[in-house]
Amino acid sequence: MVEEGAQGIEDVGIPGVDVSKPSIARTYDYLLGGKDNFAVDRALGDRFINDLPGSRAIAFDNRGALVRAIREIAVNTPVRQYLDLGSGLPTADNVHQVAQRHASESRVVYVDNDPVVLAHGRALLAENKQTTVVQADLRDPKPIYESPDTRALIDFDQPVAVILSAVLHHLNDDEEPTAVVEYWYDRIPSGSYLFISHFRSEDDPRSAQLQELLQGSLGRGRWRTDDEILTLLGDGFTVLPPGLVSAVEWRPTEPQTDLTDWQRLIAAVLAVKS
Ligand SMILES: C[S@@+](CC[C@H](N)C(=O)[O-])C[C@H]1O[C@@H](n2cnc3c(N)ncnc32)[C@H](O)[C@@H]1O
Repeated sequence: MVEEGAQGIEDVGIPGVDVSKPSIARTYDYLLGGKDNFAVDRALGDRFINDLPGSRAIAFDNRGALVRAIREIAVNTPVRQYLDLGSGLPTADNVHQVAQRHASESRVVYVDNDPVVLAHGRALLAENKQTTVVQADLRDPKPIYESPDTRALIDFDQPVAVILSAVLHHLNDDEEPTAVVEYWYDRIPSGSYLFISHFRSEDDPRSAQLQELLQGSLGRGRWRTDDEILTLLGDGFTVLPPGLVSAVEWRPTEPQTDLTDWQRLIAAVLAVKS
């Protein structure tokens, strides 16, 4: 857990951490019930919890779909290497744990630009030689591709699962999220998978409320329509059943009925490069 009450960039012992501003990774950690967050993150998280009751389902549903997608890849495909871009703080059932539970030889490279993720990831992974964490900005993918840490675990001549879970919506349109997907599409062979989950706008006033709250506090958070999300995939990937759907409805383990309006606002999709 990150120290309580620290007030400056240097105070937490992790270079580059600014405890005066909320971070996406730490606020999300708070919404998921984690402890790696500061007062400023909890204050933002509490606005979701108190002002927009029910909206926290977005975080849990997202995680659920991610875990099911990793299990699906590990159990039903030959892919044994994962590039998890915008991986977030360690939580319950991390990607490497799910993948390695079903296929012990699976290798995972986590990438995040939040320094707390690097610090905590290193601690979690100290004993796991098949998993690493790279601190990098996914808007600049070349250093990630060329990183010796990435190359030590991922062979780009073999199929890879690229994971962009709940992160492309933190790229504003002028940051070209489509170019990020395109970059990785060009570097992975056929048989590779792409999982995306994304804030989904449904002409619902709730998506506008959430977007306003996130843009006002983090300067990011873009709710996109289904067409806009599918456009991010480009032309080369084939979308697999059930298509782009609410995260909770993405290959659920139990039938889902009566989704709340909030639950419709996070969508997931798995695609394969043919
Ligand atoms: C909402 S969390 C999602 C975490 C995890 N992928 C999941 O679905 O549970 C988004 C993560 O993306 C990271 N992130 C946001 N923008 C990023 C960027 N430009 N480069 C790398 N990571 C980024 C944040 O630090 C945060 O950890």
